[in-house]
Amino acid sequence: TQTILIGAPVDSGQRRPGCLMGPAAYRVAGLARMIADLGHGVTDWGDVAPVTVAPAHCPNPAVDQLPETLGWTEILREKVEDALAQDAMPITLGGDHSLALGTVAGAAAHARRIGRPLFLLWLDAHSDFHTPLTTTSGNLHGTPVAYIAGREGFESFPPFPAPIPAQRICLYGIRSVDPAEHAALLRHDIAINDMRVLDERGIVAPLREFLTAVREAGGMLHVSLDVDFLDPSIAPAVGTTVPGGTTFREAHLVMELLHESGLVTSLDLVELNPFLDDRGRTAKLMVDLVASLMGKKVFDRPTRSFA
Ligand code: ARG
Ligand code: MN
Ligand code: MN
Ligand code: MN
Repeated sequence: TQTILIGAPVDSGQRRPGCLMGPAAYRVAGLARMIADLGHGVTDWGDVAPVTVAPAHCPNPAVDQLPETLGWTEILREKVEDALAQDAMPITLGGDHSLALGTVAGAAAHARRIGRPLFLLWLDAHSDFHTPLTTTSGNLHGTPVAYIAGREGFESFPPFPAPIPAQRICLYGIRSVDPAEHAALLRHDIAINDMRVLDERGIVAPLREFLTAVREAGGMLHVSLDVDFLDPSIAPAVGTTVPGGTTFREAHLVMELLHESGLVTSLDLVELNPFLDDRGRTAKLMVDLVASLMGKKVFDRPTRSFA
C-alpha cells in the first residue's frame, strides 16, 4: 500500500487547546517509520494550513470558530481527494474530529468521481451527530457524522459532495450521545454499535457484518478513529474522555480485522491532545493500532491446533 500522511493540526472544533500538537506527536512516536517497516510506501505531505474563507453566518450563536473550521474543511477535502486520486491511502493526523468534515468530503468526492460507493466506520465514544443548529456546546467536532449523512442545518457549509446513505454508516464504541443527537439518530437507519451492543455481541460480529456489506457493494471504506474510542485508562490524552471504552486487546482486534478485510481506503487519527498525555503513551498506542491496521501481527501464518 502507498500511504500519504497529511498533518492536520486542527484545534478549532473544540475549546481545550492541544490537538494542534497531534501531528507532531505522531511523527515523534515513529508513525512513518513503522509504516515503512511493514513494507508500505509512505510520503509525508507535512502539515497543511487552513485556507481563508469568506465570512459565514450561522444562526446558532453558540457555534465556536466557524470560519477556522470552514477553512480546514476546504483544504482537507482537497488534500484527501488528491491523495486518493494518486491511488494512495491518505492517513490524516489530527487534530480534533472537526477535521472529518473535510477528510470524508474528500473521500466522498473521489468515490463519486470513480463511481464507487463510500462507507464510513466511526470509531468513537460519541456519535458526533449534531448539526450547527442543534449543538449546545458549540464545538463543531461534534457535527461531522451529521454533515456526512446529509442532514439539514449545514447551510453555512459547502454542500457535502455525495452524502453517505445511512445504511453505509457504522458507529462503533458509542457511549455518549446528547439528547438532540439521540432524537435525530432514531430518525436515521444508521448502525449504532453502542457499548450495550458490543458488550452483548462482542467486538467481532458486528464489525464482520459491516465489512461484508462493504465488500459485497465493492465499496471504499473511510475509517475515522477518535482517541476516546479507547478506554481512558489506556488512552488518557484526549479532552473528552468517557469511561467504559474499548480495551487494548479489543482495539487491536478491530484493527487486525480491518487489515484482513483489505477494504480500508482512507483513515483519520483524531482528538489526540499530547498536552494531556502521560509520557507519550497515547500517541504510541495510536501508532501501534495503526501498525495492526497496516498488517502487523504476531504470526503471519495459521498456527497448528490440537483439535
Ligand atoms: N456531544 C458533545 C458535544 O457536542 C461531545 C462531542 C465530542 N466529540 C468528539 N469528537 N470528541 O459537545
Ligand atoms: Mn481551540
Ligand atoms: Mn469524535
Ligand atoms: Mn469522541
